Amino acid sequence: MSTTRCRSPLLAVALSALAGCSGDALTPGELAQVLTMSPVPAPPPSASNRYADSPAAAAIGKTLFFDPGLSADGKTACATCHDPKRHFTDGERVHTALGTGNRNVPSVETAAWQTWFFWDGRADSAWAQATGPMRNPVEMGATAESVQARVRDVDAVAFGEAFGPLPEDSNLTLALVGKALEAYERTLGPGPARFDAFVADLRATGSSTVLTGDEQAGLRVFLRRGCVNCHSGPLFTDGSFHNIGVPEIAKGGMDIGRALGATAVLDDPYNCLGPYSDAHLPALIAPPATSSGPKATAHPCAELRFLDPSFPDWPLAFKTPSLRNVADTAPYMHDGSIATLAAVLAFYSTLPGTPLIGHRELTLQPLSLSQREMDDLEAFLGTLSSPAR
Ligand code: HEC
Ligand code: HEC
Repeated sequence: MSTTRCRSPLLAVALSALAGCSGDALTPGELAQVLTMSPVPAPPPSASNRYADSPAAAAIGKTLFFDPGLSADGKTACATCHDPKRHFTDGERVHTALGTGNRNVPSVETAAWQTWFFWDGRADSAWAQATGPMRNPVEMGATAESVQARVRDVDAVAFGEAFGPLPEDSNLTLALVGKALEAYERTLGPGPARFDAFVADLRATGSSTVLTGDEQAGLRVFLRRGCVNCHSGPLFTDGSFHNIGVPEIAKGGMDIGRALGATAVLDDPYNCLGPYSDAHLPALIAPPATSSGPKATAHPCAELRFLDPSFPDWPLAFKTPSLRNVADTAPYMHDGSIATLAAVLAFYSTLPGTPLIGHRELTLQPLSLSQREMDDLEAFLGTLSSPAR
């Protein structure tokens, strides 16, 4: 163990002669917290998609995910931007397809565990999300009618196996195509990383050498400097929205993030409370609680029902991204404005600039990280990578 990691060199000298530096071990509280960060559990049930775990739906969903024929120019599939070889991202700052968007492409590997979709959370399920890019004029530029025609001409058999006869209503077909895409995304998952092997060892024996000294030091920085307050749990995200004050470089007007997303999701006809949702089906609604029966479970659309779009901290707030595979998915942030992980850490160290509206999350203060802490943090983030497909 290296003594260079101790805050006080004098203390380091004194302690290193005995049992090493006191800063080198996880406290019992930290150990308990680390155990909550792995493994990635099975996906929770999908509240509004009764086909979410249907193998037939996942099979046609996979076909559709890679089908450029769904797009207006016949060239753009979901996989064009969400490339499996890059953990379902594209390596670009923002993607150019039929037009140029203003947001960085996030992975779809963690879709099954998310509550809100897109950087601003303007969809409340993976299937509702999927109806977005198909109809987005700068992405795939399709319509419900053109998607219906593509499925009828090319995928009718596989569609029938999953959902029965093709509906007449093209909006319903679009919803079912979204449900198939969600079923496919649920088969992905971020895959086990070295960090998971490390935690499995800790759980079994209380110690592990799977991570190097530097990587373990980076984990301690991650815990002790508050990264884990937002990047929490096995997906390294709290699923919530924060204004961390990423310098705004969006062209064509300011991107106000969650403030727009919260309004949009309430108006979305494909949301959990809408006519295409399966949340009203008895099988998906939990039985009423009785004193001896199962614990009362929230309404399947509880998150949407209690969403307050006027929450004052929503402007410029964006969804906390998962950090699984983060070392392989540069560039970073909702607008792709930060090119490397080292630059992200430098950002947290100094927090340059001030947000154009509102203020940064008050708990977020410049961390003044040393070069050593930044290097260790970067090494730790690399342990969250799993092999690409
Ligand atoms: C032209 C590039 C492009 C195409 C094509 C595309 N996407 Fe995306 N995808 C993006 C971008 C950019 C975002 C983030 C947009 C935002 O937040 O406003 C995104 C967001 C997502 C998300 C949300 C992830 C999260 O954690 O919030 C999912 C899931 C997703 N896309 C799936 C799909 C599916 C399924 C298709 C095909 C129907 C598709 N995408 C087609 C670029 C693309
Ligand atoms: C207050 C909550 C919060 C804290 C604390 C926090 N983050 Fe973040 N993090 C976010 C949000 C929100 C974003 C996305 C912001 C955006 O795009 O505007 C983000 C983005 C990132 C990204 C970019 C990921 C990507 O795919 O684009 C990385 C890497 C990251 N954070 C690492 C860290 C590290 C390391 C720490 C500790 C030094 C930390 N974060 C502390 C909320 C937080």
